Amino acid sequence: MKKTIKFLSLVPVLLLSSCKSGVKYDISKYILELEWKEDFTIYQLTDTHLGDKDDLPTHYKFMDYTYDHLDKKPDMIVVTGDLFTFASRSTAKGFFSWLDSKEVPWTVTFGNHDEQCFFSVDWLTGYLNELSNSDKSHCVFKDLQDDDVHGNANFAINLKDGSTIKEQIIVMDTNRYYFGKYFGYDYIKQNQIDWYERLVNYTKEQNGGTVVPSKLFYHIPLPEINDAWEKGSKYERIESNLTDKVNFQQKREKTCPPDYNSGFFKKITELGSTNAMFFGHDHINNFANEYEGVLFSYGVKATDRVYFDSDMLGGQTITIKNDHKVDIKQYFYSYEEVK
Ligand SMILES: [Fe+2]
Repeated sequence: MKKTIKFLSLVPVLLLSSCKSGVKYDISKYILELEWKEDFTIYQLTDTHLGDKDDLPTHYKFMDYTYDHLDKKPDMIVVTGDLFTFASRSTAKGFFSWLDSKEVPWTVTFGNHDEQCFFSVDWLTGYLNELSNSDKSHCVFKDLQDDDVHGNANFAINLKDGSTIKEQIIVMDTNRYYFGKYFGYDYIKQNQIDWYERLVNYTKEQNGGTVVPSKLFYHIPLPEINDAWEKGSKYERIESNLTDKVNFQQKREKTCPPDYNSGFFKKITELGSTNAMFFGHDHINNFANEYEGVLFSYGVKATDRVYFDSDMLGGQTITIKNDHKVDIKQYFYSYEEVK
């Protein structure tokens, strides 16, 4: 993380571009569907970091406690990466069974730590594809593993109101580490940006030429997170179960986006579909700011694994309103409460 973007600016972009070879699938193959409901509510968990050496029953007890205290049962659950660290397949399957036990559609994307396990991210992807295809699971996930798009979780879920696409949930993989011209967190590749553009344009076409509003879920914040903090406006439509809100709208650590800006945010603003993005990665940053018409929102860390602040653990709900804006409610609890 010591190398600067100034240095990178001298490097031709082509050198940094990913050249993943693979099948170019029709963009419609990446789209799943769920039924739109008024005030569609998503429960976001992030950075669970579950591992084999953990006291897993206590983590599940804490996550159950948070879930059971939500104002209403969500319509969907999204986990925004760093699901596991030093986990085996059985630990991974255990977490997916926990998600299934809530009996609502759920999905995940991956974080930089999900490769530090006793399985590969490709195995995770394959297993999630299997769950999603099974009638016995509520998993909603699709990654085409032999495609030409970088990463292991790039897909969309259309929220259908009859034949109309009311909203689109876009899940993307912000990848893991980069060992090229700098060492640090990986960035969204050009082929992913091209994929996003194809997706937004195809969905617009399916919707009679009108852009469909979308919400984007991924793990590592984009480089513009710093502009969102410094120049963005504090999001008004956000509340908490706590009255003192001492842990609210806070930047307690340096943001950790990738060093290289591949231009994804520029494309997002150019296409005008995504108006809110939800991510994790920085465990003790908790703010939601609007910048250039797009909401940047951290999730709330869901377990006390790896580093954390004990007053910043729990989860958040994101309620998509009829006007396509979101209401966010954050829930904070402590492990002491569940012991
Ligand atoms: Fe993390």
